[in-house]
Amino acid sequence: MITAETIEKIKETARIEEVVGDFVSLKKRGSSLIGNCPFHGEKTPSFHVSVNKGIYKCFGCGVAGDSVRFIMEHEKYSYPEALKFLATKYNIEVEETVESKENIELNSARESLYIVSQFAAGFFEDQLWNSADGKAIGLSYFKERGFREDIIKKFNLGYSPDVWDALTLEAVKNQHSEEFLEKTGLSIRNDKGKLYDRFRGRVMFPIHNFTGRVIGFGGRTLKTDKNVPKYVNSPESDIYHKSNVLYGLFHAKKAIRDQDNCYLVEGYADVLAVHQAYIENVVASSGTSLTIEQIKLIARFTQNVTILYDGDAAGIKASLRGLDMILEEGLNVKVVSFPDGDDPDSYMHKVGAGAFKTYIEEQRQDFILYKANILLAEAGKDPIKKAGIIRDIVESIAKIPDNIKASVFIKECSHLLEIEERVLLTELNAIKVAKSKKAVAPQRASSFPSHPDMPPDDLFAEGGPSAEPEIAVSQVSSDILQEQEIVRLLLTFGHELATWEQTDNMYIGSFIIQNLSDVTFENDLCKRIVDYYRNELENGQLPTINQFLRSEDAEIANLAITVSTSEYSLSENWLNKHQIYVKDETHNIKSAVLGGLYYLKKHKVDSMLTDLMNQIKDEKDVTNQEILLGRYAQVKNVERSISKFLGSVIVK
Ligand code: UTP
Ligand code: MN
Repeated sequence: MITAETIEKIKETARIEEVVGDFVSLKKRGSSLIGNCPFHGEKTPSFHVSVNKGIYKCFGCGVAGDSVRFIMEHEKYSYPEALKFLATKYNIEVEETVESKENIELNSARESLYIVSQFAAGFFEDQLWNSADGKAIGLSYFKERGFREDIIKKFNLGYSPDVWDALTLEAVKNQHSEEFLEKTGLSIRNDKGKLYDRFRGRVMFPIHNFTGRVIGFGGRTLKTDKNVPKYVNSPESDIYHKSNVLYGLFHAKKAIRDQDNCYLVEGYADVLAVHQAYIENVVASSGTSLTIEQIKLIARFTQNVTILYDGDAAGIKASLRGLDMILEEGLNVKVVSFPDGDDPDSYMHKVGAGAFKTYIEEQRQDFILYKANILLAEAGKDPIKKAGIIRDIVESIAKIPDNIKASVFIKECSHLLEIEERVLLTELNAIKVAKSKKAVAPQRASSFPSHPDMPPDDLFAEGGPSAEPEIAVSQVSSDILQEQEIVRLLLTFGHELATWEQTDNMYIGSFIIQNLSDVTFENDLCKRIVDYYRNELENGQLPTINQFLRSEDAEIANLAITVSTSEYSLSENWLNKHQIYVKDETHNIKSAVLGGLYYLKKHKVDSMLTDLMNQIKDEKDVTNQEILLGRYAQVKNVERSISKFLGSVIVK
């Protein structure tokens, strides 16, 4: 464990503009630096770095954090790894509490697995280009299939000689231990205790993790014998977990970001072929069906996936359902299918790179419509089959977290299926209601709108507060904005003195907290922050914004960053919503604070009123009705006095 002092030192020393500047080219704009976001493809910069606050925030995709988080996200490092990376950059000595022996051994063992894998990749590559068999058998095989030398080199393809222990012997000769050869699966021990090579007489595809380190291999046979497995693959190991690896990602990630799209194919050969057509944003799931981890891996780079399908109809139908999983992750899915019998690799070699590129650009279709077309063709005129299709397709649409997108598909499918939109919508709602009843999911705090003016469209996704989208949207967003505004005021002005009447010169933080005693927060994350703040005050501490900005809890840090970087847009929003214009907030903190507090209170009181009104309507008993009416009048009075107060304080 890295000591708290060291962590503190690293965080204090690291300069956000330098840390980010190593990866992103930044230009000065006003008080912040700005550049193209490295986390999503964009042409106009929306990635802001605040030197004063030591944080970054992208107004395009919503990512945000401090130096440590940047390194974690960008390099896919764990928290301690990111800290160590920064320590090295700034020559800070890392003090660690004594690490367990097991831990040290585990780390160095993993490192040894990487090293021996890299050695093997070098060995196979050398064999391909320099040994007689490698050239005559391996290299000529690739060339016969039409692969160019630059592609063969780019992917570090290789050849494993057709003998029992070529690699094992060479590795041991080079001081690699048998233990790690076995653990990576490169060598296998036979009954007699002797090691032999897993890969023999095969062309080799090294598999890289996305930082470019070799973690495993796929070896393709050169024989046409059906009894020989076409591919032999490395087994799972401490460094190779198949479910979260995508073949080609290391070579594709930059292009995926730049193009804001990821092509997904099935095989190693397909990745090579697509690259050869000068399309570099391509990865393969490598035979296994796509996993959630793989989808999430793609989602770090882009929200758009295009599947390049083999042309056989049975295969397509089988995989349609798997694709719903991608929709569920909120990604946009398109598909391109190839003529029957062709896969991307064979088709590219058949028509050539240029025609291939044109083909996939022109044939690209939205997945839902593609699916609808395929199923429709199959059902023909049979009305019962057609009814089944409707359900099937609407189920896919129901997986899309973004309701606006979903409604666009409903519209298009209504044309395609020749069914009234209303019918499809009813079906969609039925599915959503059923789902939201099933999943009593906790409110997802991370689904804050990354930008306060943007609708928090995934808040009413599955398990959201209501099954009726339209209503949920406005309620949720205004609730969140109000509560978020309080958090913003706390964090931005908490440490300043409240100098207006009846505040006894207390800190604004204390003033706000005091005034919140009768307010229940609905949003869990806002509540956590307010509770934390209150707790600190009770312990005699006045929290600083840095405590939140640099919180290890990414959700807290994110919200702190959102609220502290969005003053401008918030006040603009304030203007639209409440006709309040807070000119320069710092000059009118009083209005901002009282306005924030009392709008929140007014909001809560308003929903009490709506609630009471509904109760009154439903109440049949006259006496009860009168009691409720009395209560309504009381609350209405409170509401009036709040409104009056707001009128007197705010509107200047
Ligand atoms: P393909 O049979 O489409 O392989 O299987 P390919 O890469 O296109 O190979 P060529 O064109 O015949 O040379 C797709 C993927 O499934 C996995 C491999 O990852 C392969 O790339 N696979 C396939 C295996 O792991 N084992 C097998 O026996 C076959
Ligand atoms: Mn193939």
